[in-house]
Amino acid sequence: MIFPKFILKITIVGFFTSCALFSADESSNENKKTVLITGAAGFIGSNFLQYMYDKYPEYEFIVIDALTYAGSLENISSEIRNADRFRFVHANINDFETVNSLMCHSDFVVHFAAESHVTRSIVSDAKFLDTDIMGTRSLLVALNQNRHKVERFVHISTSEVYGTAQTQPMNENHPLNPRSPYAAAKAGADRLVYSYYCTYDLPVVILRPFNNYGPNQHVEKLIPRIAASIILNKPIKIHGSGEQSRDWVHTLDTARAIDMALHKPDFSQIKGEEINIGTNRAVSVNDIVHSILKILHKPQYPVLKISDRPGQVDCHIGGNEKARKLLGWTPIISLDEGLAETLKWYLKNPDFCSKLYENSSHPVYVSDNEIEYQ
Ligand SMILES: NC(=O)c1ccc[n+]([C@@H]2O[C@H](COP(=O)([O-])OP(=O)(O)OC[C@H]3O[C@@H](n4cnc5c(N)ncnc54)[C@H](O)[C@@H]3O)[C@@H](O)[C@H]2O)c1
Repeated sequence: MIFPKFILKITIVGFFTSCALFSADESSNENKKTVLITGAAGFIGSNFLQYMYDKYPEYEFIVIDALTYAGSLENISSEIRNADRFRFVHANINDFETVNSLMCHSDFVVHFAAESHVTRSIVSDAKFLDTDIMGTRSLLVALNQNRHKVERFVHISTSEVYGTAQTQPMNENHPLNPRSPYAAAKAGADRLVYSYYCTYDLPVVILRPFNNYGPNQHVEKLIPRIAASIILNKPIKIHGSGEQSRDWVHTLDTARAIDMALHKPDFSQIKGEEINIGTNRAVSVNDIVHSILKILHKPQYPVLKISDRPGQVDCHIGGNEKARKLLGWTPIISLDEGLAETLKWYLKNPDFCSKLYENSSHPVYVSDNEIEYQ
């Protein structure tokens, strides 16, 4: 057993059916909240959990995560794993009974759990529909049943729902034109949450973060993949021309935005709203590669251009006026600073890179007969 105390907690949760997860004395204190987080063994969820755990010493946290290839207990710090105010439930969000039994303890719910990698969704999309849409439905049904307990439900959607930018920056009224099965599944979930708000008046808010980066991100995603390639001495592979641009948000800025949505004094001002979490700025993949090589002092490192990913988005740039107005949020971590810190983390964690690298590219049909590992 790697985490004896931790496993014990999982066992207790596995058997529990009543509403007495932490203690009999449940949240009579206004400052004491229980936060249920789905998918916090993954990248953004684990960073959000750490941020909230440090900031709110009175809060209790429950994580539900299926520990797919993308999730790991090691993404959650040992301090949290061993804390009395933390419980981990190893379960699928489609397991309605478990989700429902956890929600009856929860004041806040933050929903990250999803299949999240665009390339995987091209190879095999069924799981994406199952987790991202049906899993979200399972949570919404449980939310409706626990509507008198749960005060706020933050759904983590994504900028991918918009497709390529028709206006720059893209605001929340931009049409939804998902271009990959992942994006379509997330758009389905996003609109399902909205429909439950309209139909059942549930306390939801939908955040649409743009491309996140930071520690704990799987090396299948761009920035960690470049870092891992360099650390493991492999060539860097870039899809297409590399001129595709994205709006890069440090994951701690995303954590701050979610925190603001959970604690905004007048929730009615954001209830049912969609809010972009972006920086108003897009930077191309080529420029990201260039910056990383510069920070790591590797100007001559080999960069291979491979076929473009089918369903590619050319440009994402997130207008954040609504986030400023409704949440008081603006990003505070510059790309230069965030990138340097993130690279330091990957350099300190070469095992993280080597463990995940082999599982980070997938065979994609790039033309009728041609398959390429992307
Ligand atoms: N990474 C980004 O740049 C980005 C940007 C915008 C939005 N998002 C969204 O943020 C959320 C988190 O993204 P991430 O990059 O941290 O993802 P991730 O792939 O790193 O983590 C996903 C987590 O969900 C868990 N999970 C998957 N299927 C599950 C299921 N059926 N039941 C329970 N747990 C399950 C995994 O085990 C993993 O821990 C996702 O909803 C994603 O769509 C991500």
